[in-house]
Parts: sequence; C-alpha cells; structure tokens
Amino acid sequence: MKVLVTGASGYIGSHTCLELLKAGHDVVGFDNFSNSSPKSIERVRELAGKDMRLETLDLRETEKLTALLKEGFDAVVHFAALKAVGESVEKPKLYMENNVGGTASLLGAMEIAGCSRLVFSSSCTVYGAVEKSPVGERHPRAAVNPYGQTKLDIEDMCYELASEDKSWKIALLRYFNPVGAHESGRIGEDPKGIPNNLMPYVMQTAVGRREFVNVWGDDYPTPDGTGVRDYIHVVDLALGHVAALSKLEEFQGAQAVNLGAGRGYSVLEVIAAAAKAAGKPIPHKIMPRRAGDAAAIWADASLAKKKLGWETKRGLDEMCADHWRWQKDNPEGYGE
Ligand code: NAD
Ligand code: UFG
Repeated sequence: MKVLVTGASGYIGSHTCLELLKAGHDVVGFDNFSNSSPKSIERVRELAGKDMRLETLDLRETEKLTALLKEGFDAVVHFAALKAVGESVEKPKLYMENNVGGTASLLGAMEIAGCSRLVFSSSCTVYGAVEKSPVGERHPRAAVNPYGQTKLDIEDMCYELASEDKSWKIALLRYFNPVGAHESGRIGEDPKGIPNNLMPYVMQTAVGRREFVNVWGDDYPTPDGTGVRDYIHVVDLALGHVAALSKLEEFQGAQAVNLGAGRGYSVLEVIAAAAKAAGKPIPHKIMPRRAGDAAAIWADASLAKKKLGWETKRGLDEMCADHWRWQKDNPEGYGE
C-alpha cells in the first residue's frame, strides 16, 4: 500500500514508519516538528535500509495537504497531535485547534483527494474515570481533560463521517500506555522538558538526569498500593497499525479497537524492572497521589486479537531493556 503518515517523526510515528517499510509498504510522512526531530526518520531510513519521503507540513495547511494527498494514497495513518495533558489544561483552545481542527482539515483533504481509509491514534483516556478493569471498547466514554476531549471529538467526527458516507473505513485505535523503543536503541521517545509519564522519568533518573522518581501514591486499592497501568511496547503498538491497515477493508465504517497487553503492572513493578535493565538501583520516593489519576486500568485486548489478528509479544522486561538501551545510547534524545 501507499501510506501517508501524519506526525511521522514523533515517538509512535517513527516506530510505525519503520514497521510499515519493513512490511513492504510505500511510506510518505509529514510533520510540523513541533514535538519531534527529522533525525528520527533519518534513522528509520538507516534501520529499514529503504528510503521514505518526509515533508514539513502542518495538518492545518489544508491546501498543501490536499495537493499531497492528490498524489494518490491508499490510506492515512494519523498520529499528528499535541499530547501533553497539563499543557492542554492551560491551553485548551490550542489543543482544539491543533488536534480537532487539524483532523477536520485532514479529513476534508482526504475527501477531496478521494482517500477514505484512515487509522487514527485514539487513547484509553477516552474511557474517563475507570472503576473496573479490563476495559472493553463498549465502556462509556468521558473526557477528564481537554486533551481527552480532543480524542472524543475526533472519534465522534469519524463516526459521523462514516455513517454519512459509507465508503469510509476508519480504525480508531485506542492505545494504552506505550513505552520502550526499537531494539537497536537508534529510535525512541524524546520528551521535551521534564517528563510527565512514568517510563521516561524512570529512565532519565537511571541515566542521572533526575535525582529520584516521584511515586504518586502508595495507598491505592492495588496489590502494592501504587497505580497499575497496561504498558505496551511501542514496537508491538507499531505492528498493531500494520495489522489494522491489512484488515481495514473488513471494517464497518468507523470502529474502535483497544491496543493494549491486557494486563497491568504497578509503578513499583516498573521501577524494579527498569532497575534490572539498567543494572543499578533507581532512587524513588513515595509522594502524595497525583490529581486525576485512576488506581488501575488495563485493556480487554480480545477484540484486537479477533479483528486484527494482533496481540502483544513483548513483556515488561523487554520494554525496559529496550527503553534503557535507547536512553543510555542517547542520553539527550536526538539532541536538539
Ligand atoms: P509525539 O509528540 O512524539 O508525536 C506526535 C507528532 O505530531 C510530533 O512529531 C509532532 O511534532 C507532530 N504534530 C503535532 N501537531 C502537528 C500538526 N498540527 N501538524 C503536523 N504535525 C504535528 O507523540 P506520540 O507519543 O508519538 O503520539 C502519537 C499519537 O498517539 C498522538 O495522536 C497521541 O495523542 C496518541 N497517543 C499517544 C499516547 C502516548 O502515551 N504516547 C497514548 C495514547 C495516544
Ligand atoms: N507515575 C508516577 N510518577 C511519575 C509519573 C507517573 O508514580 O513521575 C504513575 C502515575 O501515577 C500512574 C502511572 O505512573 O499510576 C502511569 O502514569 P503515566 O503518566 O505514565 O500515564 P497515565 O496512565 O497516567 O496517562 C497517560 C496519559 C494519558 C493517556 C494514558 C494512556 O497522560 O493521557 O497515558 O496512553 F491516556
């Protein structure tokens, strides 16, 4: 297939471009580089031993986007978005314009260019405050912050479009917690500023960039009292997109599919596994709970297995070993 990837140079985008190239697809990517470096795609080309085009483009530049799409693509894989929850609370309008406005621009351009196959990066954040896991796709949806609202709005836009025009086939992939890096240690997550998410914070602590990990609460109703999440290796996640593209013709309009491992790990389990991977203890301190955090959430991953023939293969030790290799070899990320 000829595939257009938005947000191609980002964390999940770069890993997915690599797996798409390896699967034999013809890949063109674009990004506005607001949260990434084109260096990731240079490294993807090296790893794949194949070329791919990377354009500088913003989702909201509808005319340029339409011209690009008119080159003829079989499908679009849409990662481009802003994703920092805290920033979305401070700048809700920016998140609406970039994520929702940007996706409306993309869908409009696709319509004009006659491309009606889309794989979209949704998130388990659409399940809102979850009280019981595993969480299936039929769980009611709710937004708990402006970032989450953008994912809900985009899903709704896709459901509406596909119900009005039956030619559309859209996979709404709801990711759980992506971590890890390609096994080569050449591409990985390069968060700007102080990481908000657990794994990058733990790894930056292991490499000496942070003093200790704040463990946000140890009084949750979980086995060790710390928060439990469904961590998924980013390469498994990337392969989930390859699987979704291969099964897209079987989709009925727009349909949501969870991409998760179907099991949870606690904060202390992650720190212990990361310490094993790094070969050194990782200092951490128990702190009060972080506002808005759920105690535990993991996926019911059975639909992905049934519909996409996909399931995760890489466990927590591999996620930590690979994330550590990337962090150790690239302590300052891509260095920009
Ligand atoms: P990322 O920030 O590394 O990648 C997103 C990319 O999109 C970046 O390269 C950024 O520069 C680009 N971008 C942003 N706005 C753009 C615009 N208007 N035009 C063009 N490019 C733009 O993030 P990621 O972790 O790779 O996330 C990819 C997608 O997956 C996002 O939609 C995110 O919301 C979603 N998601 C991520 C997670 C996670 O924990 N990483 C979880 C669930 C869902
Ligand atoms: N945690 C810590 N210390 C930290 C960071 C996190 O103890 O420094 C804990 C959290 O309290 C939580 C767990 O580690 O129990 C995971 O936290 P993350 O911030 O890594 O991930 P979340 O599950 O809270 O949420 C993130 C995004 C959501 C998204 C979700 C799934 O913020 O928007 O991942 O992709 F929906």
